[in-house]
Amino acid sequence: MAEAIAVENIVKTFPGVLANDKISFSVEQGEIRAIVGENGAGKTTLMKILYGLHKPDSGTVRVKGKEVKLSNARDAIALGIGMVHQHFMLVPSFTLAQNIVLGVEPKKSLLVDEEALEESVQEISEKYGLAVNVNKLAMDASVGEQQRAEILKALYRGADILILDEPTAVLTDMETEDLFVMLRRLAEAGKTILFISHKLREVLAISDNTTVMRSGKVVGTVKTSETDDCELAEMMVGRETIGGRIRQIAECGQPVLQVENISVLDSRDLMAVRNVNLELHCGEILGVGGVDGNGQEEFVEAIMGLRPILNGRILVEGNEIQNQSTREIREAGVAYIPSDRYRSGIAMEALVWENLVAGEYYRPPYSKGFSFVWKEINEAADSLVEKFQVSTPGLNVQTGNLSGGNIQRLIAGRELGSNKARVVIASQPTRGIDIAGTEAIRQMLLEYAERGAGVILLSADLDEVLALSDRVVVFYAGRLYDAGYWDDDIRRRVGQLMTGGEGGCNDEIIP
Ligand SMILES: Nc1ncnc2c1ncn2[C@@H]1O[C@H](COP(=O)(O)OP(=O)(O)OP(=O)(O)O)[C@@H](O)[C@H]1O
Ligand SMILES: [Mg+2]
Repeated sequence: MAEAIAVENIVKTFPGVLANDKISFSVEQGEIRAIVGENGAGKTTLMKILYGLHKPDSGTVRVKGKEVKLSNARDAIALGIGMVHQHFMLVPSFTLAQNIVLGVEPKKSLLVDEEALEESVQEISEKYGLAVNVNKLAMDASVGEQQRAEILKALYRGADILILDEPTAVLTDMETEDLFVMLRRLAEAGKTILFISHKLREVLAISDNTTVMRSGKVVGTVKTSETDDCELAEMMVGRETIGGRIRQIAECGQPVLQVENISVLDSRDLMAVRNVNLELHCGEILGVGGVDGNGQEEFVEAIMGLRPILNGRILVEGNEIQNQSTREIREAGVAYIPSDRYRSGIAMEALVWENLVAGEYYRPPYSKGFSFVWKEINEAADSLVEKFQVSTPGLNVQTGNLSGGNIQRLIAGRELGSNKARVVIASQPTRGIDIAGTEAIRQMLLEYAERGAGVILLSADLDEVLALSDRVVVFYAGRLYDAGYWDDDIRRRVGQLMTGGEGGCNDEIIP
């Protein structure tokens, strides 16, 4: 087999950080190569070097056996390299077809040839079995569809080496399955794929070989069929890892959050949540399962005051909070880790300390009168950074420069760090976070419950829900179904409810 792409002794530093430390490896044509490593290990940096977005300090890149210089993405594209980023980059108000051909549109006497455009996109979509509705606006497309469009965009530009940076972090299990079918087909057609993921189960399922990175270095490359998740995890962190159930069922106390008969619309004004009732008790961890898009996101957004409710009431410790502002709801004792961190969790341009005290800066101890109390702010920010192991060169760095996983730890730290919340709503809190970070955040949720707060845990990762929850409810088609308390049979009940199956103990809940 021929070598598709290789790097030798790549070094890349950022101010205060050695992001890539003499990295060497080589990937063959038609190979699916997984790249794993903890948050901040240097994966994205390396991929950006291969795509011409970062210039290495030293070291060489070879494409198809020839040493190349990559000064920008155009150079990379010309060499047949395509990249789908950790965060999608489609233009929301363009159709998927327009996004796919953006910058290389077929022209007819200087004008864009709309017909040829649609046809050529359709053709390539069929050729690789990547189904997209070409006329749909990017903002209306599902996450899976947006991702397929991103892959098609790369293929349309002639990519035969595809870099996918955490492509499954935003996908449901089913969408991930679909993606894997497509990736296998692409590899069979001779495409080379570099696949970054934190989910070892996926890496084991899809890749031919796995390269493990730690602290900017390559720890090793192993043949995937000859390894297992324990070995990989050990290479990544060099110690024992998490797995299985970590929660003892707790005695549940008074209700801290009561949701009475609420209905909520989604962004397209369709009914997303239908007359849902829920009671969360102090000391309880309530897992919320369900296939993405069944109303669970809108449900928590409504509790947080980010969406109006059409009817019903929401009470925190007996006080009504429905239709209050998000700030008032936070002050009533509700902490929130949103699933879409880049849209509603953080200001990327702001400095690390600004994001860390974002919800609190306007009141003591962080401000007195009209001025900030810097000592308090610095101390609080420092201790959050330490407790949640946010890897950052300092508090005065732009947040957008941190690695994806470290940004997530920062938000979790801000929301969970202050210890005051009576209700914690965590939506996909560990998505895209490495093993150590996941452990830290799960531990925080457990501690909250032990201190008597109620915790709602929304996660697309069913293993996570089952590892932590006392009780599990499932959203299906906008309604809430109760799968009951944790026991040996809970996985089966949850699975059945997720797919709309009958059974379960939901009779008294459905109106
Ligand atoms: N543009 C930048 N400026 C400064 N530092 C950066 C920049 N990009 C990355 N870094 C730093 O380089 C290190 C490696 O980051 P990188 O994004 O490559 O990690 P990663 O392995 O992709 O992590 P994650 O799994 O969290 O996405 C991190 O410490 C990060 O803070
Ligand atoms: Mg990354």
